[in-house]
Amino acid sequence: MGIIKHNIPELSLRFFTLILEIAPAAKKMFSFLKDTDEIPHNNPKLKAHAVKVFKMTCESAIQLDEKGEVVVGETTLKWLGSIHLEKGVIDPHFEVVKEALLRTVQEGTGDKWSEEMNGAWAEAYDHLATAIKNEMKI
Ligand code: HEM
Repeated sequence: MGIIKHNIPELSLRFFTLILEIAPAAKKMFSFLKDTDEIPHNNPKLKAHAVKVFKMTCESAIQLDEKGEVVVGETTLKWLGSIHLEKGVIDPHFEVVKEALLRTVQEGTGDKWSEEMNGAWAEAYDHLATAIKNEMKI
């Protein structure tokens, strides 16, 4: 995560660029994207979402490693469930974000990237996404 943390502004932009490249229709869901033609630089909301996804996935990977499971607090989960429901997020969107996340991690870690690292991020993301989707009942 260290290497990723140091490049948050750049990687947040890259992450959203990839999300929109994979799924252009996702644009209208994000309050900070829907009225613009290009991805805004230095937008705090864009950065907040990217950082949350990076950070929560990273924390989930640590939990998986230490405890063999991912536990998301009830309050956080309720919050995440309701935000995403309200924004109209559906099941296939989680795959789009997963793909964009894994590619961002790969690009962001450069020659430190490995299949094993990729697997750890993918597994952690899947656990987190499943917890959010269960809360959303989708
Ligand atoms: C908002 C986390 C996946 C779309 C948020 C927020 C968090 C979050 C914490 C609230 C941000 C804030 O107000 O500070 C996550 C995590 C995800 C995930 C951990 C996966 C594990 C997705 C997916 C989509 C999505 C798959 C659909 C493409 C959104 C949208 C908002 C949001 C549209 C509202 C942002 C805004 O317009 O301000 N997410 N998210 N998220 N999320 Fe996610």
